[in-house]
Amino acid sequence: MRRTLGIAALVLALPLAAAAETKTITLPPDHPYGDLKPGPGVEVAQRACRSCHSTDYIVMQPRGDAKQWEAVVTKMIKVFGASISDEDAKAVVRYLSTVYGR
Ligand code: HEC
Repeated sequence: MRRTLGIAALVLALPLAAAAETKTITLPPDHPYGDLKPGPGVEVAQRACRSCHSTDYIVMQPRGDAKQWEAVVTKMIKVFGASISDEDAKAVVRYLSTVYGR
């Protein structure tokens, strides 16, 4: 009987000892590669281009000239319904073709 109690106490004490140990996990920063690079107009791009998808979509594209980026921005507006003013669209194209240009 005494032995059974001893084993029961041990079985009960084990999970408690395990729970008392604190473990820490360091996670990598969120999408460090997906951040838009700094440059003139970056705030406009952040505002206009992040509401539907992350900026990963932008940084993963091959580099392009103003004509190519304009086609992307126009597609976002005409096809996907992004509400971006003409002025902001121009600023985004300028930013993208400068910072992610050829
Ligand atoms: C109204 C929502 C919306 C906004 C705002 C938006 N996009 Fe998109 N974007 C989409 C959708 C939808 C897709 C296609 C997703 C898919 O194919 O899985 C997409 C895809 C993309 C792609 C991938 C290539 C392609 O043509 O499909 C790029 C690059 C892109 N967007 C850039 C931009 C830029 C730059 C802006 C800011 C001017 C922007 N997006 C703003 C909806 C949006």
